[in-house]
Amino acid sequence: MPLVTTTEMFKKAYEGGYAVGAFNVNNMEIIQGITEAAMEEKAPLILQVSAGARKYAKHVYLVKLVEAALEDTGLPIALHLDHGEDFEICKSCVDGGFSSVMIDGSKHSFEDNIKLTKQVVDYAHAHGVVVEGELGKLAGIEDNINVSEKDAMFTDPAQAQEFVERTGVDSLAIAIGTSHGAYKFKGEARLQFDILEEVGRRLPGFPIVLHGASSVMPEYVEIINKFGGKMPGAKGVPEEMLRKAAGMAVCKINIDTDLRLAMTASIRQYMSEHPEHFDPRQYLKPARANIKEVVRHKLINVLGCAGKA
Ligand code: G3H
Ligand code: 13P
Ligand code: ZN
Repeated sequence: MPLVTTTEMFKKAYEGGYAVGAFNVNNMEIIQGITEAAMEEKAPLILQVSAGARKYAKHVYLVKLVEAALEDTGLPIALHLDHGEDFEICKSCVDGGFSSVMIDGSKHSFEDNIKLTKQVVDYAHAHGVVVEGELGKLAGIEDNINVSEKDAMFTDPAQAQEFVERTGVDSLAIAIGTSHGAYKFKGEARLQFDILEEVGRRLPGFPIVLHGASSVMPEYVEIINKFGGKMPGAKGVPEEMLRKAAGMAVCKINIDTDLRLAMTASIRQYMSEHPEHFDPRQYLKPARANIKEVVRHKLINVLGCAGKA
């Protein structure tokens, strides 16, 4: 089966009240762990590649590995550019075989974001590729910002409607309180579900994307800290909040940090328990198995997309 776009996936996810997982990939073990779980759970899948991943592994290696996963699994898989920051990187991924790209113009003014996003949409659509835009800024707890400044970072639902109508994007990432990485909340975890609800009301049937959606799974943070790591205060989005979002307009949930934690926990534990080993296959095998188990857990218990391929 060739790569698919996200159009059909999102339509079914919206109607079915679940979300498709978008997992970041950087190497073969990560791709295999994710795709093996999705194959066993018969789940649709989005594999996403950041600019950093392209720099680390090279575009062509990642595309060829994903092609191998397609052949191996027979699953509907979309290959997506995560956080494309300009037209050039989006064009390079459209020309280089991706089926979906994100243009992240969220750091620009509203009008400049619209202009940039529209430019990418025009090019991508002419080549059969779908586009995710972003409006609003994801918070970081390290940012020293007060509450009113924080409110200003959330997506304005009226602007979201205008943005979608003027750009023609196929999906939109919005800011409702999540953030990237392992340190998302200082105190109680809080998401602005009222914003998500209003966006859903203004854009019926339109797929919304949630970034920064790792739960920062405590069991892996514990193993990392037990075997020499230092991650005090790591905290993510509670799973019940993600399930609630998946039942609303959110059709794509982005997960990277939980994969990193699962892989690192496994390698730290393995190296500590087998100090005499030096064959990378010995520690990468359990690391890949950990990725698979995390993804399986997400597909079944968080996203609700198991059995939907
Ligand atoms: O949103 C960011 C993703 O977690 C990718 O991270 O840019 O370090 O590859 P990266
Ligand atoms: P996490 O850091 O919460 O995994 O978010 C990943 C993400 O949003 C990738 O775009
Ligand atoms: Zn992101």
